[in-house]
Order: sequence, then C-alpha cells, then structure tokens
Amino acid sequence: MSRTWWRGAAIYQVYLRSFADGNGDGCGDLAGLRSRLGYLKDLGIDAVWLNPWYPSPMADGGYDVADYRDIEPVFGTLAEAEAFIAEAHEHGIKVIIDVVPNHSSTASAWFQEALADPRARDRFWFRDEPNGWSSIFGGPAWTQVPDGQWYLHLFAPEQPDLNWDNPEVHREFEDVLRFWFDRGVDGFRVDSAALLVKSDDAYEDLDGVHDVYRRWREIADEYGDERGERVLIGEVWLPDQERFARYLRPDELHTAFNFDFLSCPWDPAELRRVIDLTLATHLPIGAPPTWVLSNHDVTRPVTRYGRADTGFQHGGRLHGSPSDPELGRRRARAAALLAMALPGGVYVYQGEELGLPEVEDLPDEVRQDPMFARSGGANPGRDGCRVPLPWSGEEPPFGFGGPGPSAPPWLPQPEGWRKLTAQAQLADLDSMLTLYRSALRLRRDLLGDGTLTWLPSEAGVLAFRRESGLVCVSNLGPVAVPLPPGELLLASGPVEGGALPPDTTAWVTGGPGPGVSGR
Ligand code: GLC
Repeated sequence: MSRTWWRGAAIYQVYLRSFADGNGDGCGDLAGLRSRLGYLKDLGIDAVWLNPWYPSPMADGGYDVADYRDIEPVFGTLAEAEAFIAEAHEHGIKVIIDVVPNHSSTASAWFQEALADPRARDRFWFRDEPNGWSSIFGGPAWTQVPDGQWYLHLFAPEQPDLNWDNPEVHREFEDVLRFWFDRGVDGFRVDSAALLVKSDDAYEDLDGVHDVYRRWREIADEYGDERGERVLIGEVWLPDQERFARYLRPDELHTAFNFDFLSCPWDPAELRRVIDLTLATHLPIGAPPTWVLSNHDVTRPVTRYGRADTGFQHGGRLHGSPSDPELGRRRARAAALLAMALPGGVYVYQGEELGLPEVEDLPDEVRQDPMFARSGGANPGRDGCRVPLPWSGEEPPFGFGGPGPSAPPWLPQPEGWRKLTAQAQLADLDSMLTLYRSALRLRRDLLGDGTLTWLPSEAGVLAFRRESGLVCVSNLGPVAVPLPPGELLLASGPVEGGALPPDTTAWVTGGPGPGVSGR
C-alpha cells in the first residue's frame, strides 16, 4: 500500500464495547476483536478506527478518559493492545485510535489533584462563577466543587474540559501521541477537534486550535515510514466550509469526517449539492474528502432512510417516527454504493455492513448514554446504534460472546436479528454483507482518491464517471431509468432489462470514454 494510503482508504469503525466479546462478560473487548480480524480482512477494509479504549468510568462510553496511556481493564491490557496492533498489520489492516484532547475524566490523576489542591487547577477550567454556557449533552456546562469553585464541562460533568492555554496540556498530548505511535498505531481520530481552545465567551473554532494541529502534524510526520504516513483525522462539525477547510491545510489534519454528507436527506438535489460543496471545499487545498453514512453518535441508515424525513437530526427528534424497513434497506444499499464510488476515503460503522436498524425500543433502564439522563429522557440518546453485533446463531447473544456460554450483552439485541447475523448474511448473495464485501473489493481496484466527472442524467438521477472509467448511477427518482451502456459490475438492487429501479445504485464500466485501468 502506498505512503498516502489514507487518501482513498476504506476505514471501518469499531465500537469496541459492542463489536465482539472474547471473555463472555457481555462487553466487547480486545480478545473478541482479535478473534474477528479475519472477518475484517475479508470485508476488504484498509484500516480500523477504534473508539476510546482507555481506562474510563464509562460515563460517556469511554470518552471520559482516566488515563491516556493504558487500556480499560474490561477491554484487556496494554500487552493485548500491542498484540492486536501487530496482528492487524499482519492482516494488512491499519489501526487508528481515538484521542480525546478536549476533556478528560473526573477520575484522572490530574483532576483528582485539582480537586485536592486549588493551586493545581490550571490544567482545567476552574472559575469562581459559571458563565451561563450549556452542556452539549443538556443542562449547565459548569459543576461546583465542595470548596465553591466551578469547573467547565462542555459534555457530561464527568468530563472536565482541559485548559489548552496551559503549556503542560500541550506537552502531555504530544507525549500521548508519541506513546501510541511508538506502539505502532497508524493514526488518530481527534475527538471534538474544534473545541480545544477557548476564550471566556467562545469555545468553538478559535484560531489558536490550529497551532495545536500544526505541532501534532510535525509529530505524525516524524513517524511516517515504509508502512505509510501516520494520519490525523478530525471530528470537526462546523457549518462554515471555509472555516472547516482550515483544519485540512497541508500542515494540519490529514482528513476530517464529512458530516454534511452524513446528515443529508435522501434527495437527489440535496445530495448533489453536498457532494459538489464537499469537492469544492477539499480539492483546492489538496485534501481528500471523506464519505460517512453513520457512526456511533447517529441514527442507523436503514432506519433513517425508511422515514418520511430522511435527514439526520441531532437531539433524537425523529426517534420512533415511522420507518419502512424495506424502503430504508433499499436506500441504505444504494447510498452505500454511492458513498463508496465517490473520490476520497469512506467510513463504515460496524453493523452498517449488516444493515442493522436503530434499536428504538430499548427499555429506559438499560440506556446508558448520558444524553438520555441529562435530557430527562426527552432525548433517547445514542444507545440504539450501539447494540452489540449479531455474529451467528438463532438467539441472543448471537455469538457476540464467542462460542461458549456468556453473560447477556450490555445492551439487549432484538430477537429479529437472527436474520441479520454475519453468518446468515455470508450465505446469502443478496445480503447487505455480500454487497459491502463486493463493493469494497471493487473499490480497492477501481476507486479511492481522485476526482469525478458528472454525466448528464435524467431528473432524480446522479451519474458520474471516475478516472478508472467506472460510472456510478444512483436513481433517486420515482421511475426506473435506463442504465448507461457498458458492463454492469455491481448494483444495490435487482436490475432487469437494462433498467435501474428507483432507490438503486449501479456501477457500470467499459462504456464509451476512458477504459478501466488498474485491474
Ligand atoms: C464526540 C464523540 C461522542 C462523544 C463526544 C464527547 O462527539 O463522537 O461520542 O460523546 O465527542 O467526547
């Protein structure tokens, strides 16, 4: 693989708690992940990104990090993490881990020191008076400590914000990056990347944050070698494209998640607008776009696309609104082939390749996401997209706990998932898993980094050609349309008599125009 592997990579997101449970305690772990590396290799992805695996009280699914240089005991040990990195590399899979620099945990040594000694508070945001900010999870963003001072937490009270005006905080994270680069990781996903630097009246996208990433980029660049460059991927949710693009300047982050695409409704004009805007933002600065349909924070695509309102909205406003599972599935398949044909990198969130729906009827008492409790139940939170994966068998835990007896998974799986297990889908040529496996393989040979040329098409149809000659056609209109000439490589639904049905994407090659290379 080339040094710039990340420019066109397919990256699979592993939510470790819910991926595979190696010791049968009901919670996913490194042993489970290691046992499933063959599955990931066969899927055809280039890298995995793991959500935080550090010691954590789990007030926010591990985004409350108590120690940035170790592994949560429920997940395993540092030695197992090192073994996992080495084995992933043997399977040809790169490893990206989450770094959480905006906030730490009230259980961290630094915060405990700050609590005990007011002179040790400069690593956080302690003030005598709160300033009225609200937490992104609901409720106030300030909590009072026993001696009367208040500390800032943009997320849960267990996640105190770090003070990036303090040089010690900079040194600490530079050292943390080196700690994991020295252990072989290929990159970092930077959590809440636009929030680090704050003033007394603003906390998003302040200019000083770019100095942090310039320094981090120097460190990442030091580690690049024959295995390839080490990468920094930003979680940057910003409405302004010009501000967003600043994070991807050549001496800053390598890529960032495309949340406009993730939130976009299943609508041809809107998708075309978002794709064009994405390309216009990225291509001039030489950064590859990314295409994301889901992650651990948002509604599963098959559920979202089956609703009347197909956009993603924060705050769970659409939770429980009617969703047609067949329609949702058809569109999610079409969206996957569209996303994978676009130039740049693509993300697959675990379970997306199985077509798992959002679990909307979890009992309140099992919900763990702080968004649920902090909104007084008004926001169902994100547990519904974090339910443990079904691997095999006819009943829960569907092989999640490995071959032997195991405790119930930390969130209950629906009975109906017997049809969605990886095992059942591998045997089914029409399954979501088979589609993802075929698409990811073809994508490796024919797609990835580059640009696209839009082709003339009927209303409701998106059609473009890639440099390899592959043409991607998505029909979002109400009636079937003729397929372009050429060989049909793959389609997300049945294609009969040369016609592409509604809510279907096809990949075609060999028609007029530049021929296919790289096969
Ligand atoms: C990011 C993560 C989310 C987490 C939040 C606070 O948005 O994706 O899961 O709750 O940061 O760390």
